[in-house]
Amino acid sequence: MEENSQLDIFGGSEVIRNALMAQANELLDTLLDFKELMLCYSAAIQQIRTKLEILSTEFEVKYQRNPISNIQSRLKSQVSIMEKMNRKGLDVTRENIEKNIHDIAGIRVICSYVDDIYRIADALVGQYDIELIEKKDYIANPKPNGYRSLHLIVKLPVYFAESMRNVTAEIQIRTIAMDFWASLEHQIKYKKKMKDPESVAKKLKQCADIITYTDIMMQNIRKEMDDERADDVDLTEQIYEKLKRFDVTLSE
Ligand code: GTP
Ligand code: MG
Repeated sequence: MEENSQLDIFGGSEVIRNALMAQANELLDTLLDFKELMLCYSAAIQQIRTKLEILSTEFEVKYQRNPISNIQSRLKSQVSIMEKMNRKGLDVTRENIEKNIHDIAGIRVICSYVDDIYRIADALVGQYDIELIEKKDYIANPKPNGYRSLHLIVKLPVYFAESMRNVTAEIQIRTIAMDFWASLEHQIKYKKKMKDPESVAKKLKQCADIITYTDIMMQNIRKEMDDERADDVDLTEQIYEKLKRFDVTLSE
């Protein structure tokens, strides 16, 4: 192909070329605006992760025990955002997205014990730059299918070179056991061909009940151990316990 014919995709019309270029330019502006919006949510995730990591390390230094076993985070994909906007019957504008979708920045905190969940939630929500927008306690009030977790919708300021934005994020806090159940339930729910969905739902609920019981038992065991340890540690043990707290690695 000759070089000239390749350049001539607009059929030689300067008007069409300019119109298409203007459209492309506008489209790029919209996409860049979206990219900047995503940057806000990504920054919010980073900040919340840092807050959680600090709390976790503090807890470890003070009590030699890590209340957070794992932190996961994700930015909602563009497709999922569009789907959710469609479902809600809303026009896809930046304003509508910011106002109506609260889980673009999603953080999941997996704790060891049920009481750790509330400890972490309280410590986070108590921070002056975190505003609690909504709290759904599916632990005190589990969903009928057995789902349990503590959900927080929070707002926090994110600072950029020339601006500050208040950004919303969803934080789900649950135990290892609750997470195990929710992950498998999520997979099973999306299996297309289910012969007897009612029976599956019933069994899943039974599993959720067993897990609830297990969470309570595990927490009781830990509390008993804590009490026993407090009762009869001699001086040497006390010193060793304190020395171990120096071993906690601090981030630089
Ligand atoms: P959206 O689902 O985000 O539109 O809002 P909602 O008002 O229903 O929020 P809710 O707090 O109930 O759930 C938000 C998220 O929690 C979901 O996207 C899931 O990640 C999780 N979740 C809620 N219910 C269940 C459940 O029954 N099973 C599992 N596996 N996850 C759940
Ligand atoms: Mg939902």
